Amino acid sequence: MSTKLTLDIVTLCGSVRKDSFNAALVRALPNISGGDLNFKDGPSVADVPIYDNDLETLSGFPSIITALAALIREADGVLIVSPEYNYSVPGGLKNMLDWVSRTPNQPFAKKPVLIQSVSGGAIGGMRMQHHLRQIMVFLNARVLARPEIAIGPASAKFDSMGQLIDAPAREAVRAQLTEFAAFIREQTPH
Ligand SMILES: Cc1cc2nc3c(=O)[nH]c(=O)nc-3n(C[C@H](O)[C@H](O)[C@H](O)COP(=O)(O)O)c2cc1C
Repeated sequence: MSTKLTLDIVTLCGSVRKDSFNAALVRALPNISGGDLNFKDGPSVADVPIYDNDLETLSGFPSIITALAALIREADGVLIVSPEYNYSVPGGLKNMLDWVSRTPNQPFAKKPVLIQSVSGGAIGGMRMQHHLRQIMVFLNARVLARPEIAIGPASAKFDSMGQLIDAPAREAVRAQLTEFAAFIREQTPH
């Protein structure tokens, strides 16, 4: 059981859109959480080249991936916040995960992972979440099973300034973050 007062959480966002609802949720997290989680943004998926085994063989890993792998390795947990594209994981996010999965001592192994999604649809990205969970099985991550957070339709939960104004959604996120912190502490022996 970890006794660390503050847990370091790397956030990965599946959208690069300027007015992204998912990015807005990431920005809202410090305010919603109880304060024992310290959020640090991972790199933008837009800055990661397309996975290419030839590139890996010839040049090794892009520095952005080596740095991300180190960031994940050092963190207490990873939070992935992403929209659903065509019922699945957006290509940019999948691409970044594919790169990380190739790194030595791949950092998702036994790493506590949390998933959140915001989508334009009422189901809130839940189909993406199930595909992402499947990917995380192969990476041997420890994904929190419940509670699940899927916020939608986004236009009814956020205001025009990108603030998450829906009280039940904020409370659901807060409760999930509290559970995630407990989940991390249960399995981290320091
Ligand atoms: C290529 C594409 C595919 C989409 N597929 C889905 C989908 O399968 N399910 C869904 O609920 N919304 C889907 N949407 C709508 C997104 O949920 C919506 O655009 C959302 O706001 C994107 O997240 P963001 O605001 O963080 O960029 C799709 C959007 C795009 C651009």
